Amino acid sequence: MSAPNSNFVRACKSQPVNRTPVWFMRQAGRYMPEYRAVRKQHSLLEICKKPALAAEVTITAAEILGIDAAIIFADLLLPLEVMGLPFHFSAGEGPVIEKPVRTKEDIANLRSDRAADLGYVSEAVSLVAKHFANRVPVIGFCGAPFTLASYMIEGGGSRNYVHAKTMMYNSPVEWDALMRKLVVVTAEYAADQVRAGADVIQIFDSWVGCLSVDDYRRFVLPHVTGMVKQLQRTGAPVIYFGTDSATLLPAMKETGADVIGLDWRIPLDEGWARLNYECAVQGNLDPVLLFADWKELKSRAEAVLQQAAGRPGHIFNLGHGILPETPVENVKSLARFVQDYAGVASSAGSPVSASRNPKAGSRTP
Ligand code: CP3
Repeated sequence: MSAPNSNFVRACKSQPVNRTPVWFMRQAGRYMPEYRAVRKQHSLLEICKKPALAAEVTITAAEILGIDAAIIFADLLLPLEVMGLPFHFSAGEGPVIEKPVRTKEDIANLRSDRAADLGYVSEAVSLVAKHFANRVPVIGFCGAPFTLASYMIEGGGSRNYVHAKTMMYNSPVEWDALMRKLVVVTAEYAADQVRAGADVIQIFDSWVGCLSVDDYRRFVLPHVTGMVKQLQRTGAPVIYFGTDSATLLPAMKETGADVIGLDWRIPLDEGWARLNYECAVQGNLDPVLLFADWKELKSRAEAVLQQAAGRPGHIFNLGHGILPETPVENVKSLARFVQDYAGVASSAGSPVSASRNPKAGSRTP
């Protein structure tokens, strides 16, 4: 752990901060010319698998944005490969899993003993943590079992999750076996990232919002709860993020995650209320607002901050990742605006610090 007393890590633990920390999902991505330049020379998977390159991409984005946390550059689907499921990215189609998991035998054949082969991600984490020292905290991440299973079973992205849900309904025993294997691999993988220097782990359950509350409780909640417990034993706070999750929020809170990520479909204060204010929240500006005029973008960002109302435990973020054509200037301006926002400290009764420190993340309360 490199920056345990940073505003970001403190906010993850619902501790008071002197200003709201901010970072963005997909902050290193195609919207940024520096990333596109690296991508011209290397495939996405090449970048992920070369620690020096992955670290460079992570660091460059965080420095350009002057942001309060650096998420390690990797991909959600990397664990599929070590479980025995090769995949590739096809232009326009997104990820393609070559032989989707459909039967009991397919599940039995999945390996859960090779998480260590993802060590290149931990190596990248340790390079980034070394670079930032205690200046900017590092976020490690992994996929949640439902979202990873949906890719494994559907063979790629999906609209209705027909194959995944059919397996859940018709073969609950096999479904649970698959979820258990995924938790074994991802929990070990994420714990390795913490040992390498990640301050916080984010679990992406990007597509869990396609489930009813009852199905979530029966088929997902017990597995994610076990995973969160295991990760918290490393000492790192855990952020649990999903989209379309408004109805699932009370159940998601039962996982015991330190922070719940909110998407933009629910107002931040309403989402936090559904969590009984018993954990921290991260979010939740619509990423498409980054395409709007600055005046509109600013007023919507301000609305999110006002809804957080200076309560301890708010991390500013988007409701989902930055989109490819997003204007970089708006992303930079938004980060600066959140960092300069004085409402938090004043309403919390602690000293107001409205000036922006060029060394992002260096101020501690
Ligand atoms: O946030 C960051 O800056 C860290 C990097 C990161 C990537 N993927 C790199 C990447 C993170 C956190 C992810 C997570 C990820 N990957 C998720 C969960 C997050 C979410 O959006 O909910 C998912 C579902 C994936 C799987 C995946 N990888 C998809 C669906 C795609 C898009 C395919 C396409 O062609 O648009 C990817 C590719 C990917 N992973 C890119 C990046 C920056 C796109 C850019 C590229 O091809 O270089």
